[in-house]
Amino acid sequence: MITHIISEAVKTLNNHGIVAIPTETVYGLAGNIYSEKAINSIFEAKKRPFFNPLIVHISSIDKLDEIAINIPDIAYTLANTFWPGPLTLVLDKHKNIPFLVTGGKNTVAVRVPNHTTTLALLNQLNFPLAAPSANIFGQLSPTCAAHIMDSFKPNTPLILDGGVCENGIESTIVGFENGQPVIYRFGAISLEDIENVIGKINKIIQKNRKLIAPGMLKKHYAPLTKLLVTNNICNKINEFKGLKVGLLLFDNKKVYDIPYQEILTTKGNLAEAASNLYACLHRLDSLGLDIIIAEKLPNKGLGVTINDRLTRGTKK
Ligand code: TXA
Ligand code: MG
Repeated sequence: MITHIISEAVKTLNNHGIVAIPTETVYGLAGNIYSEKAINSIFEAKKRPFFNPLIVHISSIDKLDEIAINIPDIAYTLANTFWPGPLTLVLDKHKNIPFLVTGGKNTVAVRVPNHTTTLALLNQLNFPLAAPSANIFGQLSPTCAAHIMDSFKPNTPLILDGGVCENGIESTIVGFENGQPVIYRFGAISLEDIENVIGKINKIIQKNRKLIAPGMLKKHYAPLTKLLVTNNICNKINEFKGLKVGLLLFDNKKVYDIPYQEILTTKGNLAEAASNLYACLHRLDSLGLDIIIAEKLPNKGLGVTINDRLTRGTKK
């Protein structure tokens, strides 16, 4: 069911239920962090492995010390700069945070989302919300209510409709190792924007290293259709002649004679491209194509995040 009424979501969450909630990045599938029943339902609905920890959503930075301890100064600097917003911090967990939420880890991921509906919701609850993206594990993230309906049917959770997600791509995740910041997932805030605040970041956890943030799993954010990423669209079109091909293009500078096309931005704007990414992929994925050929984006700013998601979405 879809609702616009916050009190309906409050009621379900107070009764240990789960609700799909809007954020500025993607929709989350939310439950009371202290309710074992709610958290189990999230993992079950998403078919998500229990070792894969959830992000805790709070209404303001004032609540941070109920969630985490030993918070480094740089973490406060980042939180003060980017919250509410698409930045997730991984910090030492407060003893009250259940291990079910943190996948058994002593650290916890936390952020203040920048969406008026969800901030109002959080202000009406006596507990923070654990919310992974509201999709089946490994599949495309949802940026509107219809994506959630498609993903979970016939067992759709209650959806609190807050419109289309503005950033359209997941939060950037930053952790700390020996007091030094580490990027665990590229996201809606570019590396450059973070480095402008706290200086050069020397450590980025590479995708093939041991599982730290499962968003780092190689096959993730994947459409059901085979996807490949290339710098040379023409070559790939020739290679797959005879197949039903769809194109995901950065901009509309070059014209290709293919009927199924999505253009991420007509202005060469990376933020706009990010906000359209999942919606374009969802549409292409619904066409019964044999293959989606995606154009690699310029590797700077949010282009890095988009290329990361596209590469992880490819299937061998
Ligand atoms: O934008 C977002 O972050 C969205 C919205 C709903 O807030 N949420 C989201 O959640 O993308 P999810 O579960 O799809 O991705 C959360 C990522 C996972 O890759 C998870 O492994 C990582 O955060 N994570 C959570 N706790 C962690 C921890 N203690 N250490 C390292 N990574 C952690
Ligand atoms: Mg996810």
